[in-house]
Amino acid sequence: MKILLRDCLSRVATIVCLSAAVGVVHAGERTAMPADVPATYLQECASCHIAYPPGALPAASWQRIMSTLDSHYGTDAELDAAPGARIGAWLQRHAGTWKHVSEAPPHDRITRSRWFERRHRKVDAAVWRHDSVKSAANCAACHAGAERGRFDDDDLRFPAGLDARYRGPWND
Ligand code: HEC
Ligand code: HEC
Repeated sequence: MKILLRDCLSRVATIVCLSAAVGVVHAGERTAMPADVPATYLQECASCHIAYPPGALPAASWQRIMSTLDSHYGTDAELDAAPGARIGAWLQRHAGTWKHVSEAPPHDRITRSRWFERRHRKVDAAVWRHDSVKSAANCAACHAGAERGRFDDDDLRFPAGLDARYRGPWND
């Protein structure tokens, strides 16, 4: 809590205060974003997609991702050395805390993890391809709390414009 207040006061970064507050409220929940998420992580790693929670990948995957940012899933996400090192250390500290996260998934993708495929097995193939989803990595299309690191079953959203017949996994 001390770290949190100091971050909020010194950086005046509303987004950090907000996400940190959420982290505290939900402390202990296995899928929450750690409360000490650095402002640089939210600035640098959440501009093209959501800020993925570090607990969802093992340390080896984050290590590889951070050392190959110049060719990052078909794009260049290279960082300056200082923020890169800061983010890398934070990711290592919180890596692999989610349930069933141990070995590195193919291409170090959360979305290729065995637990991910199992958890989403009832989601129809057509849903992933729909215009309002496009990619499994677009967590926020279906998880209303994704930006805050919340992925519980009770915080789901049914993607806009999707046919009601696909609603099954959202209701159970
Ligand atoms: C310039 C845009 C950009 C930036 C900046 C960026 N990424 Fe990405 N990232 C991508 C793209 C594009 C993908 C692939 C998304 C897809 O398949 O739909 C991706 C995918 C990922 C994935 C795999 C998602 C999955 O499929 O499970 C992880 C993990 C990831 N990024 C982490 C990071 C981290 C950590 C940073 C900050 C150091 C970062 N990204 C910064 C563009 C970016
Ligand atoms: C196309 C929509 C969709 C996308 C995109 C999606 N999910 Fe999900 N997710 C779901 C649904 C629906 C469930 C509930 C499935 C069920 O209960 O059968 C779920 C369940 C989960 C659960 C289990 C929750 C619990 O309480 O047990 C986790 C964790 C999760 N998703 C994480 C992610 C992450 C991380 C991403 C992005 C990398 C993601 N999901 C992308 C639809 C999606």
